Amino acid sequence: MNFGGTLRINKFACFTLGFILFLIIYWRSGGVSYPSDKNDLINIKSLLIAAIHAAERGGKKVIEGKNHELNIKSKGKTQEGANDPVTDADYASHCAMYYSLKHTFPKLNIISEEHSKDDSSCLNQELIDIESVPTEHKTIEYMNDEHVFVKDVTVWIDPLDATQEYTEGLYQYVTTMVCVAINGVPIVGVIHYPFPTRTYWGWYTKKASSNIPAIQHNEENKEHPRVVISRSHPGKVADIAKEAFGPKTVVTQAAGAGDKVMGVVNGSFDVYLHATAIKKWDLCAGNAIIKAVDGKMTTIKGADIDYSPNGNVKVADGILVSRFDHDYYLSKLPKTLTGPT
Ligand SMILES: *[C@@H]1O[C@H](CO)[C@@H](O)[C@H](O)[C@H]1NC(C)=O
Repeated sequence: MNFGGTLRINKFACFTLGFILFLIIYWRSGGVSYPSDKNDLINIKSLLIAAIHAAERGGKKVIEGKNHELNIKSKGKTQEGANDPVTDADYASHCAMYYSLKHTFPKLNIISEEHSKDDSSCLNQELIDIESVPTEHKTIEYMNDEHVFVKDVTVWIDPLDATQEYTEGLYQYVTTMVCVAINGVPIVGVIHYPFPTRTYWGWYTKKASSNIPAIQHNEENKEHPRVVISRSHPGKVADIAKEAFGPKTVVTQAAGAGDKVMGVVNGSFDVYLHATAIKKWDLCAGNAIIKAVDGKMTTIKGADIDYSPNGNVKVADGILVSRFDHDYYLSKLPKTLTGPT
């Protein structure tokens, strides 16, 4: 008999078991350096569904607002000297979008163009049912869940893009937008049009909404690109575009960054060019959607835009959006766009 051997094995087994137990307990308790918050997860698919509902709730407020006194105020002037208006509809849409998302996902970091006025009816927003996928967007039901850390997510919302045109009755440019950025990268974008009501979305690396057409790449478009620019601050952009892309360039003015990006997404335009400063809530949703259809949005220096929560909300370098031939258009542009900075 060999008692010594058995004893040695038992001692070793006991020690190992104890050590494993210690590891399990340490891991379950979250360790010392990880407060439980940091491990909270969120499902991107649920966020996409919620973003669609939130954008559509905002859109309802925008439609309602049109039938009331608009109560137009000015937030001041843009750098180009254009009026920067805000209406009660901007606030009503902000309330609906911001607080319905916040109530549904309390730990979510949300950045909105507007801030709520002190108004309890604003805070009282119904929870969003993330199980209910609108019938036009049934394809989402067949997509996989994908969980990420809540701490890595920033949601950017624009409760009413193209407010100036809204006050002028040019409703076709008006959109509400929600964007989900993960570690500063735009991943999910939702652009909703209230007039007439329709919603487009894109989930980068996965899918775009079925109402977005497939577009054939046409190499010849580079010879006579259709370029969309801002109608409210055209600056010298039309001249810059013609100088860069050639005399056959066709320049069209439109309003709202959301609508202009959608014009590129649906193939009406080859390029969206913006020369002056612009805010990230105007860009994020369109950025995610253009990426979802394999297009690109960059500054005119070719840099990606960072949608992390703590950076500057303004992009000052100018914006280039295209579905095809992005590097070609970039190479034709001057390194800096002159004009007000
Ligand atoms: C494409 O988008 C533009 C908005 O930029 C819109 O005017 C046009 O009607 C859209 N076309 C289609 C076919 O959806």
